[in-house]
Amino acid sequence: MSTQVVSADLLETEVEKRRNFAIISHPDAGKTTLTEKLLLYGGAIHEAGAVKARRAQRHATSDWMEMEQQRGISITSTVLQFDYRDRRINLLDTPGHQDFSEDTYRTLAAADNAVMLEDAAKGLEPQTLKLFEVCKMRSLPIFTFFNKMDRPAREPLELLDEIEQVLGLQTYAVNWPIGMGDRFRGVFDRRKHQFHLFERTAHGSKEAGVTVLDLGDPRIEELLGDQDLYYQFKEELEMIEEIGPELDLEAVHAGKMTPVFFGSAMTNFGVQLFLDAFLDYALKPSPRTSTIGEVQPTTEDFTGFVFKLQANMDPKHRDRIAFVRVCSGKFEKDMVVNHARLGKNVRLSHPQKLFAQGRQSLEEAFPGDVIGLNNPGVFAIGDTIYQGKKLEYEGIPCFSPELFAYLRNPNPSKFKQFHKGVTELREEGAVQIMFSADEAKRDPILAAVGQLQFEVVQFRLQNEYNVETRLEMLPYSVARWVDGGWEALEKVGRLFNTVTVKDSWGRPVLLFRNEWNAQQVEGENPELKLSKTAPVVAGKEPEDL
Ligand code: G4P
Repeated sequence: MSTQVVSADLLETEVEKRRNFAIISHPDAGKTTLTEKLLLYGGAIHEAGAVKARRAQRHATSDWMEMEQQRGISITSTVLQFDYRDRRINLLDTPGHQDFSEDTYRTLAAADNAVMLEDAAKGLEPQTLKLFEVCKMRSLPIFTFFNKMDRPAREPLELLDEIEQVLGLQTYAVNWPIGMGDRFRGVFDRRKHQFHLFERTAHGSKEAGVTVLDLGDPRIEELLGDQDLYYQFKEELEMIEEIGPELDLEAVHAGKMTPVFFGSAMTNFGVQLFLDAFLDYALKPSPRTSTIGEVQPTTEDFTGFVFKLQANMDPKHRDRIAFVRVCSGKFEKDMVVNHARLGKNVRLSHPQKLFAQGRQSLEEAFPGDVIGLNNPGVFAIGDTIYQGKKLEYEGIPCFSPELFAYLRNPNPSKFKQFHKGVTELREEGAVQIMFSADEAKRDPILAAVGQLQFEVVQFRLQNEYNVETRLEMLPYSVARWVDGGWEALEKVGRLFNTVTVKDSWGRPVLLFRNEWNAQQVEGENPELKLSKTAPVVAGKEPEDL
C-alpha cells in the first residue's frame, strides 16, 4: 500500500487552523437560531433564515413517517464547515427534539469542544444535563451561552451559581449583560473592557449593529438612559471581578471551568463576541487515545474513526454513509487505508463533505474534520481506519437507554429476514439490543434513548427486510451496567424493584422503572457498582441473536 508523504508544516498549519465543536442544548433553547447566526458570520449563508426555513418545512409535515419516507430516513445530523477569521470551524450538529437518539451522544465523541446553550429564562434543562454528562466523561471544554436575554431571564448570578452547583464547573463570565428583557441594553466585554450596546434589528437577519464604548466613557450613562440599570450592572461586575476566579485556560481545556457568555441569538446580539472569544479559547484538534498510546493530530499517517452511520440519506441512492472523524494525517480522496477490525484494505472513494442536507465531494481533509464515506456494509460504529502502524481508537461506549420494548416478529416464516435485519441494524448502531435473562424469552429487547430509534428500526425492517414487527413497550426508563459482571451481581444476592437483562455482549444490565429505584438499589447495596455507560468490547463481535 502506498503511504502518502505529507509535509509536517502543512499538517501543523491545518491543525492549528481548525476548531471543532458540537452544541448541547434542550429543545427550544435556540440551537437552530444560533447555528444560523454563526453561519452568517462565517459567510456560509448570507441572510439568516435559510436553515430555519428548512426546519419549518420539515416540521410542517406532521406525520413523521411520511416525512421520513420523503426524505428516505434522513435523520440528519449534519456537519457544517465554515471559515471565520483565519480559522476553519466544524460544527457537528447534534440531533435533538424528536430526532434525539444515541447518535446525539456519539457525535460528542467526535467533538473537541462543546457549546452549552441555555435559555436564560430556564437555565439547565434535562436534555442539556444528559449531554453534559457525556461531555464530562470526555472532559470536553464547555462554553456556555445564555440565550434569549432580550426576554425576561433569570438573574445572571443565579444562572452562574446553578452551573457551579449542579454541574460542578467553575464559571468565568467573559461578557456581562446590561439588563434583560425589554431593558436589555447590551453586554460588557471583559476581554477588551468595552460596552457593546445593542440596537434592536428586525429579527437579526443581518449582522447586528453595535455601538462600542470603552469602560469609563462618560457617554455610557446617558446612552443607557437608565441609572438604576447602570448601577446594578456596575455592582454585579464589581462582584464577579472581586469574588469570581480568573480565567484559567488550562482549567477550561480540562473541562473544569466554563467561559460564559450572554446574548440573544434571535436578535443577533453577542453572537460575534462569543465566536471571537470561542476561537481564541477553544481547543484545537487534540490527541486521541489508541491501542498504541496517544496519537497526535500532526502525526503524518492518516487515521480516523467512525462515530456514526446513517442509512439512506439520499432517497435516490438509498445508500449508507459512515461519518469519520479524522484524527491524524491528511485524508485524500481514493486513498487506501487499513480497516482495523476487519484487517483488510479499503479504498476511500466518493468521500463527501456534508453541509446541511447538501453534499459536495471532497478532495482532502485534516484532523478535526468529518468526512462522509459510502459504507457498503464495511463500517460499524467505533471502527478505526489507519495508514502506517496498526492501531485502534477507543471505541464509543454504549449509552444508558431510557426506552425499552420487546420486538416481536408475528410471522415465523419471516424469521430469517427478521434475524438478518435486527443483526444488521444492531451492527449499524441504530438501536441497542438486549435480551431477557430468562432463556425462554427469546425475542430481542430494543433499548433506545429516543422514541425515533424504535420507529426507524420498525420502518427499516419493513422497508428493507420486508418484515412487519410489533413492539411491546416495557415499563422501565433507567438502565445500569453492573461493574464486575455476573460474578459481582451474584455476590449481592437478590435485588428488588429491578430486572436483569443481558446486553449484546452478554453483560448484565439492571433495568429500573425510575431513577429513584436505581438510587435505592445502589444505596442498599454499596458493594454493587453500577455504570451509566459501558465500553464497547474491543475485538469481540456481539453475541448472536
Ligand atoms: P432549537 O433549535 O434549540 O429548538 O431552538 P430554535 O432556534 O428553533 O428556537 C426556538 C424558539 O426560540 C424560536 O421561536 C426562536 O425564534 C426563539 N429564539 C431563539 N433565540 C432567541 C432569542 O435570542 N430571543 C428570543 N426572544 N427568542 C429566541 P419560535 O416561535 O418557535 O419560532 P419562530 O417563529 O421565531 O421562528
